[in-house]
Amino acid sequence: MATHKTEEIMGHLRTTVEIEPGERVALCRCFRSKNFPFCDGTHKQHPDNKGPVIVVVLETPRSEPEEASG
Ligand code: FES
Repeated sequence: MATHKTEEIMGHLRTTVEIEPGERVALCRCFRSKNFPFCDGTHKQHPDNKGPVIVVVLETPRSEPEEASG
């Protein structure tokens, strides 16, 4: 289950979200969610309707592209 913490660093708030492999989360980018940093659907009630950022953590990393040999 995704967890998060918000801390102040040099006068700026930083939110860190930890996500497990295989997990999918919707992160709020309208700053109206009552469950920030996670989207709770509140964005749908506003005319600008900025939806969330969907983050998917793969179970296994994608393979790196092979470097061209030369
Ligand atoms: S509530 Fe903010 S993007 Fe959904």
